[in-house]
Amino acid sequence: MNFDLQAIRAQFPALALTDRSRRRIYFDNPAGTQVLASVAEAMSDCLLKKSANVGGYFASSQDAGEVVQSARIAMADFLNAPSPDEIVFGQNMTTITFHLSRSIGRLLRPGDEIVLSQMDHDANVWPWVMMARDLELEVRWLPFNHETFEFDLEILDDIITERTRLLCVGGASNLTGTINNVKAICARARAAGVMTYIDGVQSAPHIATDVQDIACDFFVCSSYKFFGPHQGILWGRRELLEQLEPYKVRPAPSEPPSCFETGTQSHEGIAGITATVDYFSRIGTSMAKGYGDRWSHLAGRRRDVHAAMSLLFDYEKLLADHLVDGLVEIDGIKVQGITDKNAMGRRVPTVAFTHSKTAPDSIAEGLAKQNIFVWSGHNYAVEVAKSLGIYETGGAVRVGPVHYNSVAEIDEFLKALPGLLSR
Ligand SMILES: Cc1ncc(COP(=O)(O)O)c(C=O)c1O
Repeated sequence: MNFDLQAIRAQFPALALTDRSRRRIYFDNPAGTQVLASVAEAMSDCLLKKSANVGGYFASSQDAGEVVQSARIAMADFLNAPSPDEIVFGQNMTTITFHLSRSIGRLLRPGDEIVLSQMDHDANVWPWVMMARDLELEVRWLPFNHETFEFDLEILDDIITERTRLLCVGGASNLTGTINNVKAICARARAAGVMTYIDGVQSAPHIATDVQDIACDFFVCSSYKFFGPHQGILWGRRELLEQLEPYKVRPAPSEPPSCFETGTQSHEGIAGITATVDYFSRIGTSMAKGYGDRWSHLAGRRRDVHAAMSLLFDYEKLLADHLVDGLVEIDGIKVQGITDKNAMGRRVPTVAFTHSKTAPDSIAEGLAKQNIFVWSGHNYAVEVAKSLGIYETGGAVRVGPVHYNSVAEIDEFLKALPGLLSR
């Protein structure tokens, strides 16, 4: 694998920061990654030189319009979307989902059913539960297997009925780290005429996304989870975007995608998205040459980006293996996610664990004192934590390396951990 970690790390100024001469280890990445210098530069350039509203005759307005259009093209490449006109920007995934749920809800009638999953972050649960309450819909739940930490997909045959209209599921769990087989789920839903809304917030940073292959109807993600700015991005199938009634003010554009973008957008954030995609593209051309063959049906930046994601996932698999191998050796630790060697390719490196005698908060606090950054608690994966029976007991500790982390950092964490556990 031609993976140059030092060249990668040099592009993230935050990775060189120290506190009282102590290095930082960022394992809080599932909550938000560090940001590329090139992203900050693109955002600064937009703010300082292209600050205008879009749609005017003058140069700065045209520049701002170009920023937005370039980012739509970049995200279409990143997601392998058929067209940039299907890319919608918004503040973040949660806000986009609440917003879209209002339009999607207009297609539904009292008594219709929607399917939600117990593996999902609350941002792909509660907007839909609230919609269901408002519209008198039935909610049906897709559980996951507590031994495999995966869905048993045969269950879908019982859960999807002739009244089901919408199925919402995540690409990867922000707590267990499981990568869900969304392609199979969408195929099952499509066969029953059910719309699909995929929360790709935790899959997009780790695995190459191909919305045409997944064949979903909506796919939503957030670029601050993959080294970019705080922005939400939605891909929607054109026929559906055209069918939905946008919640918008009268003078705003009436055509997709901009009709779903309420008010004035953060053009600087949108400029940062393009720089984020270009980072993956650079990795694709400089380090991921052998991976392009897997994406030979794609061309140009689209192919480079997908090749890069495949390379990065291979590297992240090494990190995940090392982390899980180390954790399962420690007395009293239970990894709340896949540990089976044969299934490791079906998880992202986000690893949650509990200890029989020590509260997650206390472990996270102890690690913070050693400048190792992790999260504890349910991490907004409310249904997941409830389902695993850890909601009332403080959730789990979540350690989330990404491709800019090293095996040496994982070793430091594994060395620090036993000293923080009660006997
Ligand atoms: C799986 C998942 N979905 C949705 C969200 C919400 O994302 P946003 O902050 O963009 O609203 C998160 C945030 O952590 C997440 O992990």
